[in-house]
Amino acid sequence: MKHFLKETDFRLSELDGLFALAHEFKAHRGRHAAPLAGQTWAMIFSKSSTRTRVSFEVGIHELGGNPLFLNRNDIQLGRGETIADTARVLSRFVHGLIVRTFDHAEVQQLADMGTIPVINALTDLLHPCQIYADAFTLAERWGRSGDLVGALRGRKIAFVGDRGCNVANSWILGANLLGMKISLAGPAGFDAAPEFNQLLAAEGYANGYQFTTDPYEAVRDADVVYTDVWVSMGKEEETAERIRVMSPFTVNAGLMAAAKPDALFMHCLPAHAGQEVTQEVLDSPRSIIFDQAENRLHMQKAIMAKLAQPAGA
Ligand code: CP
Repeated sequence: MKHFLKETDFRLSELDGLFALAHEFKAHRGRHAAPLAGQTWAMIFSKSSTRTRVSFEVGIHELGGNPLFLNRNDIQLGRGETIADTARVLSRFVHGLIVRTFDHAEVQQLADMGTIPVINALTDLLHPCQIYADAFTLAERWGRSGDLVGALRGRKIAFVGDRGCNVANSWILGANLLGMKISLAGPAGFDAAPEFNQLLAAEGYANGYQFTTDPYEAVRDADVVYTDVWVSMGKEEETAERIRVMSPFTVNAGLMAAAKPDALFMHCLPAHAGQEVTQEVLDSPRSIIFDQAENRLHMQKAIMAKLAQPAGA
């Protein structure tokens, strides 16, 4: 049983096939195979979502399946039913599970206790669907048919802002898997959780990134400048302090000018213009934020198609 809980759940050697399938789904949208025909995939969400929820619901439908959205508070999980029992019961009804929650251990336990594929649709620790869609977006620009993934090797991504957030963590894992260089810039004191450092060490990537408090140093020679909101879901009580200490890390035209001349700007969205990025950069020709958003659909369809078990299995 294959799950997708973190970037390294696919091997590098599997990514060419995965990216090619996402490309195929994108090129032939509405006319491709329906590998989820006859299947229902449940989506348990404990946090808000626009892109992830809509792209999974539409994607399951386009693959011939039936999406079943379950707000955590509408099911017994929200009233204290165990994760183990939830996993066992849902495994008797549905063919796959997509989970957005706070504690990464919850998606791991759902995967361990159930008998159906589980996909991590964001935890406080990681956001692997986002990073795969982002990497596909870059590969589309830099690669060529038959060698999409190889085009990423040796490229540099600079992540600026909240260096301990789930998207930054996931990009560290993703960049190492893909053979990219990654440099992070942000204020001191916002380190990744110890759980992430343990995961990074277990994957052999403990030294697989650079960190600086100087955003200009981080973006030097970067092919991509990436940022995310300064106040992730669950951190709202820290809003004023985070805005105060992260304000020197706004991605503006001056910072973009310090990267490579053809550097791209990326953001997983939603964006807070005027905080982590200026409206000028969001709207600039170097911004590929809406390509990223669209590719959530095509990449997640490819991931589900790879994980799906044949009907009747
Ligand atoms: N980027 C992202 O995960 O967006 P949503 O929170 O809207 O799903």
